[in-house]
Amino acid sequence: MIGMFDSGLGGLSVWRAVSALLPELPLWYVADQARAPYGGRDHGEIIDRSLRIGRHMQAGGAELLVVACNTATAVAVTHLRRALSIPVVGVEPAVKPAAIATKSGKVGLLATKVTLESRRLKALIENYAADVEVILQPGTGLVEQVEAGELDSADTRALVAAAIVPFLNAGVDQIVLGCTHYPFLSPLIRDIAGPDIELLEPATAVARRVSSLAGPVHRVCRDTPHQFMSTAPSQRSTLAMHRMLGFSFPVMPLQL
Ligand code: SIN
Repeated sequence: MIGMFDSGLGGLSVWRAVSALLPELPLWYVADQARAPYGGRDHGEIIDRSLRIGRHMQAGGAELLVVACNTATAVAVTHLRRALSIPVVGVEPAVKPAAIATKSGKVGLLATKVTLESRRLKALIENYAADVEVILQPGTGLVEQVEAGELDSADTRALVAAAIVPFLNAGVDQIVLGCTHYPFLSPLIRDIAGPDIELLEPATAVARRVSSLAGPVHRVCRDTPHQFMSTAPSQRSTLAMHRMLGFSFPVMPLQL
């Protein structure tokens, strides 16, 4: 069984890619909605929550852990790898492919404040995008809109426009979606950014990494159903999940 967690529902963009590539793999998803969003919290709290969830999932039989949250990856993935004995896969913003693909030499990166200020992101940019201009922009309010299932409301459009217009003014031709919630706003982002700007998200690359790590041993339990747990389940978030995926799972409560 593959364990996967996020602060909330955004990691479902990763869930979607992994389950499309590996439909036979049972996935166990934990949404820490009692603490969502992680993007404005201090590092200590994000590390503590990530370790609690990771340890719980390892003890519960997860054979691999996917940190389906850019913010948790940015500050906690090293701690998780140290604390757990199972492989841990994180999500990195797709800075490298954006730097390779850009023709204007300008790349926009949309992420939470914590991710944007992380040492991990600085190293990623230094290593893979040193010779292009990377314009950083916080996605203020966007995670909250996705958690509320407001994927195309007027308020969401205004928040997306506020985040995207500085990229357009700067002349970027690539926008890196550096938070797993943002792919659910892609239609709106595309509408505002126009057809000539590439939107990059890491979900497919994560799915390929999971596939390479999940050997035949992990693929035998076809009959184990997917599981979805939340630290703060609600009718509202079930409706949001339905808007995001076109269906919803039964959500089990989890106390951690
Ligand atoms: C958040 O919880 O603030 C965002 C999650 C992410 O960065 O993917």
